[in-house]
Amino acid sequence: MMKRQLKKNILCIGAGYVGAPTMAMIAEKCPDYKVTVVDINPVKIDAWNSDRLPIYEPGLEEIIRRNRGRNLFFSKDIEDAIRRNDIIFVSVNTPTKTFGTGAGMAADLQFVEKTARQILKCAESSKIVIEKSTLPVKTAQAMERILASGKDNVTFEVLSNPEFMAEGTAISDLENPDRVLIGSRETPGGLAARRELVRIYNRWVPPERIITSNLWSSELSKLVANAFLAQRVSSINSISALCEKTDADISEVAKAVGMDSRIGAKFLKAGVGFGGSCFKKDILNLVYLCRYYGLPEVADYWENVVRINTYQQDRFLATILSAMFNTLAGKRICLLGFAFKADTGDTRESPAISIAGKLLAEQAEVVISDPKALGNAAVDLADFAGRVRYVEDPYLAAKGCHALVIMTDWDLYRRLDYRKLYRSMVRPAFLFDGRNVADHAKCFALGFNVYPIGKPALSHFQPPSAVRG
Ligand code: NAD
Ligand code: UGA
Repeated sequence: MMKRQLKKNILCIGAGYVGAPTMAMIAEKCPDYKVTVVDINPVKIDAWNSDRLPIYEPGLEEIIRRNRGRNLFFSKDIEDAIRRNDIIFVSVNTPTKTFGTGAGMAADLQFVEKTARQILKCAESSKIVIEKSTLPVKTAQAMERILASGKDNVTFEVLSNPEFMAEGTAISDLENPDRVLIGSRETPGGLAARRELVRIYNRWVPPERIITSNLWSSELSKLVANAFLAQRVSSINSISALCEKTDADISEVAKAVGMDSRIGAKFLKAGVGFGGSCFKKDILNLVYLCRYYGLPEVADYWENVVRINTYQQDRFLATILSAMFNTLAGKRICLLGFAFKADTGDTRESPAISIAGKLLAEQAEVVISDPKALGNAAVDLADFAGRVRYVEDPYLAAKGCHALVIMTDWDLYRRLDYRKLYRSMVRPAFLFDGRNVADHAKCFALGFNVYPIGKPALSHFQPPSAVRG
């Protein structure tokens, strides 16, 4: 059989939550390009080549199945892939540094730098290197300096093309992005590289949604977008605390505030705090950068977004403890949901990790239920092995429990048969709704003592207005 000649070769280094779905979308939209994804983790590459993908993301399996082996390839041979490809996306992880200067705040750039050095070592022809990972502003300069230290006949253009997709909606976000941002040097070489990348996105993204800027604006915009989104969540969560003191209802307040078209309705859902691998790390990185550049007031302003998030989780645990007569020892508590949000199996920085840890510290027995995240939950709570049970079926998980704690906004938890759950539980039964998804009045009528976020509690022991002190 004649092999089909593909017009362009594109490589992505890093086959994670961003690299793989992003490249799957490029392969889908550009059937005449060959797209290769590599990773240092061979287990992950095997999983991408198998029927059991390493991550759960709605719509991803279908798109991988359609394109894999046609013009989308997952490979372990990083060096060969670098040699064969002239457009290279870098989508490796950029976690918070855990050691040395900036520990707990700054981004750990070792994976990005190793990638740059490997590209330099293997490249036999000139390349466009695209930062897809979220990086501190000015990282492209370090990339350029590393890449410029090689052979004279091989040159590199570094672009910044941050990714704005969210987990759970990655495929629709990638297919129909609000905007694609491409930052470049404003030199002839930089502008030519930028045009090359614009041409790829032009295949499916309307031109007015592809925006270009200088490198530093692009790198910084990504951190700022995440900081603004997280700030909205912390803002509404801070007001939820005041609602609980005053009998105002956070959903009513959010609706009234969000209907102002200047404010907008999105990202105003109060809950048990934001999780996910990025909000906290990106804000801490922003805070670190502000301090580094001598802007302590700006740093303090953004750091409070993270502080309120921790406060919200602590507050939720305090509500559970005080409602359950200040002792959880020996009581069985069921966490409904462990993923950091609905429609993903990802548990990175999930508020459920800290809440489960605190419940265990109070010597509660913990049962965890989640439709997609039990594998990751067991890894996160490995230190508590033997003290936590993992049960996918929420009805079996709730059986014999003293309390249900809703941690993730899975749609499934809106539709549960709460009567059936209540009947199988120990009385008095408690429902702590960390995502405000259940029908609180109905659950109260069934017999539950109900504690939502930012709304009056419904307790059978005290009149509603006296429930919170
Ligand atoms: P991830 O941990 O899921 O994937 C990163 C992958 O890079 C891992 O599989 C790791 O093995 C691989 N890797 C690390 N060093 C490597 C090297 N030298 N060579 C080859 N592979 C290497 O991370 P992610 O969630 O995909 O995030 C990647 C970047 O994208 C981060 O900077 C993150 O902030 C950003 N981002 C993430 C999201 C998201 O929703 N997860 C959204 C937008 C942006
Ligand atoms: C977020 C951003 O939305 C993406 O644009 C960005 O690309 C990505 O981070 C990233 O850089 O990693 P993600 O973390 O996947 O995406 O999910 P979000 O929908 O932003 O939710 C983050 C957290 O905030 C979740 O725990 C969610 O439950 C919580 N949240 C969100 C609320 O508590 N209330 C809201 O109104 C919205």
